[in-house]
Amino acid sequence: MRPRRPSWWSDAVFYEVYVRSFADSDGDGIGDLEGIRSRLDYLEQLGVDALWLTPFYRSPMADHGYDVSHPRDVDPMFGTLGDFDVLLTEAHRRGIRVTVDVVPNHTSNQHEWFKSALAAGRGSPERERYLFRDGRGPRGAEPPNNWVSVFGGPAWTRVPDGQWYLHLFAPQQPDLNWANADVRYDLERTLRFWLDRGVDGFRIDVAHGMSKPPGLPDMDPRAPEFGGGEYYDPRFDDDGVHEVHQMIRKVLDEYPDAMAVGEIWVHDEERLARYLRPDELHLAFNFRLVLTHFDADAMRTSIERSLAVPRAAGAPATWTLSNHDVWRAASRYGGGAAGVRRARAMALVELAMPGTIYLYQGEELGLPNVSLPPEAMADPRARTQGPEYSRDGERVPIPWEGTLPPYGFSRTPHTWLPMPPDWAGLTVARQLPDPESTLSLYRRALQLRKTHPAFRVGDDLEWYGAPAGCFAFRRGRGGLICALNTSASSIALPPGEVLLTSSPLVEGRLAPDSAVWLV
Ligand code: GLC
Repeated sequence: MRPRRPSWWSDAVFYEVYVRSFADSDGDGIGDLEGIRSRLDYLEQLGVDALWLTPFYRSPMADHGYDVSHPRDVDPMFGTLGDFDVLLTEAHRRGIRVTVDVVPNHTSNQHEWFKSALAAGRGSPERERYLFRDGRGPRGAEPPNNWVSVFGGPAWTRVPDGQWYLHLFAPQQPDLNWANADVRYDLERTLRFWLDRGVDGFRIDVAHGMSKPPGLPDMDPRAPEFGGGEYYDPRFDDDGVHEVHQMIRKVLDEYPDAMAVGEIWVHDEERLARYLRPDELHLAFNFRLVLTHFDADAMRTSIERSLAVPRAAGAPATWTLSNHDVWRAASRYGGGAAGVRRARAMALVELAMPGTIYLYQGEELGLPNVSLPPEAMADPRARTQGPEYSRDGERVPIPWEGTLPPYGFSRTPHTWLPMPPDWAGLTVARQLPDPESTLSLYRRALQLRKTHPAFRVGDDLEWYGAPAGCFAFRRGRGGLICALNTSASSIALPPGEVLLTSSPLVEGRLAPDSAVWLV
């Protein structure tokens, strides 16, 4: 298929702002919109093209905003619609685009619709907006099918009149019925509401959810938590989901330059490609790098497969090393100094790639996952599945300056998640002037990616022969060369002039756990 006309997002660097943890302006220990606005200079200096803001809508915060009770208003915890407009205007003034999350698979159980569904009772049109069913077994005391929630336990909760409702996530996140016209119309309203305010696009939460097959057949209990594996899993990736994406795309097409990226955990490549058809999503997240350990062969396979699906669909590839749901790269790669070195190497590999990049706040500081005591954990998964499932460790607030918590994140030391006492060396203020810091590496890499002609010579990767545990490729004809060393010994550099290294060369050779860019 011919590639579509390149758009602003085709090679953009997006930066995920986990709003609760970026910057707190009002001293309640929780990040907010005004906090983001006050740190736009930083984002401009870093050199990102666009932001993805996690949900800041009205929410009881059972899943920290992914349980939305009003999708067209700002939760007072995060500010006001006026604050949002100011943030948007100021970001645009700096040439930074702003995209926002939408959560179409479910609402909060405190949404007006769900409250009225409970009140209206069985068989009512109000219940039709969700997935209410009678149970199985004597007196309907068993859930309607065997589906499990991504957060553990049955995906059904029983209400006082005996019916059950479906929730693929927490019980506070009832799934919507996408066969219902109100549900479709409401998402359209939400998209237009934010597009009319000037947002540049959306990140679609659980974009492979939404549609459920008629009859809600049992799943294979061996299916992985988020679907997309080899076992039958009717919870996700139902064929009907594509109609929803077509509807979303029709709205977006009315707004020049608006885009959408989907969170799609579907591993079958042919099925994944369907989401990128010309009348569906512009981009699909690619979680392969997140799922691959620090090994050159495994990474090369991941990279090749990551390129194949979007290329076949004529869409840009996307790349991500971390987000608010997965362990931070520095910890995934073994933690400590080695973990940070490897994460820095992988940053150069990622930023060498053609396509769209999604960074997650704090990765540019080399932050590790924080191991929090269970009593400090706030993620609903920690409660239902145990502390080892908690996503809090990657959501700890950003250290901006100073030597003690809250490191300029907030005025109060009582931040919503506690900040470690040993992060003084990781703050933005400490890293900015230090040319060896991870922040300086990201800034330099982003600047080169944007300005150096070696990034503009085509998107094909040509792989070179390389020693065991290493790889090297050239991007396009005469373009950037990138080499990665995951072995235990240093290796000779490929021929070329060094542009950037993730750690210092050792006697002119590429050290273990390092990557290099050359031209
Ligand atoms: C997505 C979000 C995650 C949230 C879930 C339910 O996976 O990234 O944080 O818990 O959807 O909305």
